[in-house]
Amino acid sequence: IYRTQKSTTLPTFLLIGPSGSGKTSLLTLCERGTPSSTHLSQSPLSVEVALPSTIRAASSKYRSTNDPSAQSPTKLLFVDTPGHGKLRHHALNRIAASEPLSGIIFLVDAANLSSSTGGRADEGLTEAGEYLHDVLLALQKRYTSATTSKGPAAMPVLVAANKLDLFTALPPQLVRAALEAEITRVRTTRAKGLLDSGIGAEDAGADDERDWLGDGGEGKFEFAQMEEVNVPVSVLGGNVLGSEGSDVQRWWEWIAEHL
Ligand code: GTP
Ligand code: MG
Repeated sequence: IYRTQKSTTLPTFLLIGPSGSGKTSLLTLCERGTPSSTHLSQSPLSVEVALPSTIRAASSKYRSTNDPSAQSPTKLLFVDTPGHGKLRHHALNRIAASEPLSGIIFLVDAANLSSSTGGRADEGLTEAGEYLHDVLLALQKRYTSATTSKGPAAMPVLVAANKLDLFTALPPQLVRAALEAEITRVRTTRAKGLLDSGIGAEDAGADDERDWLGDGGEGKFEFAQMEEVNVPVSVLGGNVLGSEGSDVQRWWEWIAEHL
């Protein structure tokens, strides 16, 4: 008779995204079953949560139902990070750190992304696009600067389109399109900024190329381009709050696929 050894490090998912996108709300929902009121986060917070019993982790799919470990809930860790522009180093440092992550959940407020009629992107979209660009670039660098020939393990990213309970929210496929277009714009602006500052000219070469997100082309940025650096990106909708309750089923399914 033996007891199954409890692993000391739980699979860890990083919650990131702009301020107000709902990260802490999601954390409290998963921890307590109901979201409690939140305020702007100022420091990271790790919380242990259990995978809902109706969803099975990919790693235990082929386990017999008689296996005692199939009965106990699958535990995982959420690391909530502050989204405020001045506090993002917490999230970016955690991505660069050597402790392994099972995945990154980038929450966006889908009701705060639509372009205004004037043609200029809304502030919300600009902020989300810039932040997501920087996160994906950090992941790309992590891959291209890896010393082993195999490169680092895959780092799945979920773009969680939150607040779909609001009627002004964009559906997930439009959230994807809006963010891809905004990242295309950010990538060009950043490259031009480097040239203007005189950095690009002399240092053009390997480093310069590394700061360009996605494939080398000048065309449109698409999330699919991240697969080349072992970063599969999914965009799935849901809502943490809402008059008809929360709906975070698709996000749990995504998490379960990466356990
Ligand atoms: P920072 O800590 O500043 O990075 O923000 P955050 O991402 O942790 O946001 P937080 O969870 O504090 O939520 C911000 C606001 O959005 C709160 O007033 C929430 O009640 C609200 N909110 C979160 N999720 C939803 C949702 O699905 N629908 C609606 N309608 N409101 C939501
Ligand atoms: Mg918060």
